Amino acid sequence: MILLFGFGGVGRTYAELLYERTGLRLCAVFDSGGGVAKKDGFASDEVKQLLKIPRGAAAKSGVGRAATLDEALDICQVVVDVSPPNYETAEPALSLYRRALSRGLAVVTANKAPLALAFRELAHRRLYYKATVMAGTPLVDLLMGLPPQKALRVRGILNGSTNYVMTRVYKDGVPFEKAVEEAKELGILEPDPRLDLEGLDPAAKLVIIANTLGAPFALRDVVRRPLAPLGPVTRYLATLDLEAGRASVEPVRLAPDDPIHVDYTMNAVEIVTEVNNILVKGKGAGRRETALVLLNDTLKALRG
Ligand SMILES: NC(=O)c1ccc[n+]([C@@H]2O[C@H](COP(=O)([O-])OP(=O)(O)OC[C@H]3O[C@@H](n4cnc5c(N)ncnc54)[C@H](OP(=O)(O)O)[C@@H]3O)[C@@H](O)[C@H]2O)c1
Repeated sequence: MILLFGFGGVGRTYAELLYERTGLRLCAVFDSGGGVAKKDGFASDEVKQLLKIPRGAAAKSGVGRAATLDEALDICQVVVDVSPPNYETAEPALSLYRRALSRGLAVVTANKAPLALAFRELAHRRLYYKATVMAGTPLVDLLMGLPPQKALRVRGILNGSTNYVMTRVYKDGVPFEKAVEEAKELGILEPDPRLDLEGLDPAAKLVIIANTLGAPFALRDVVRRPLAPLGPVTRYLATLDLEAGRASVEPVRLAPDDPIHVDYTMNAVEIVTEVNNILVKGKGAGRRETALVLLNDTLKALRG
């Protein structure tokens, strides 16, 4: 039984796929206005009803009964967090994780902020976070599969929206400000575009990558410079040097034949290890991609 914390784009897609593809049920759904719960889980037609409600109206939907988070935690096994990132405090998600993990529940998340601010505290067997980095592309699984092979450096394009902006500028000849406006209109940029344009989003992903590789970086350790067009072909590059203990996100001019040069909303990461040079390319976002990865983590969490 699953407590779904956040019922926006990714949350609703996750709910649909959960009922389409597994025999699992949601026992609680929360949005910014509160939540509803049902002890035996919502039937498929009740979830269809929930999917029709406007944003923020879960508690008033009349499906199940209005519930507090503590009541919902009593009846579920897995918490799935698809609420927005809060890079100041990571709340309310961080407190929810603490409560869930201390009760022995599993947490599956697409929300980067709690991990970016408190990875060491949360590093816990029952926390599943593959959806936080490169959404549809299982980079986290790959990183977890490396030890005892030592990773030395990681370089990557980890933010699809700024990569879209830079591709429009250098491939399609669109002025920078216009490309930013276009990305806003397409809904590619975060509601607060500073998260993308000032590098908080890729910095958070870099922190998650570093900690997954065993290096205790925090968000404040990542040097960030805002996105700016520096000339062909500028990309917003996230770099982690594990030997020097340095991490940064900054606009950098890449050679056009650089293997991590990808266009539009694609992501690419290069991992240099003591014996190998690994390149991963794939989608970095998308509701369906993210929801499918969350579903994979949910199934893993339930298997223990
Ligand atoms: N979209 C992607 O492709 C993608 C990819 C990877 C990771 N992510 C991450 O996944 C998460 C969800 O993304 P999204 O695109 O689904 O965002 P979204 O459409 O804005 O949905 C966010 C949901 O969280 C709810 N919420 C806000 N504050 C809350 C609170 N205090 N308590 C409970 N619920 C609250 C919102 O409530 P209302 O409905 O009332 O507004 C909404 O239902 C974010 O952390 C995002 O960074 C997204």
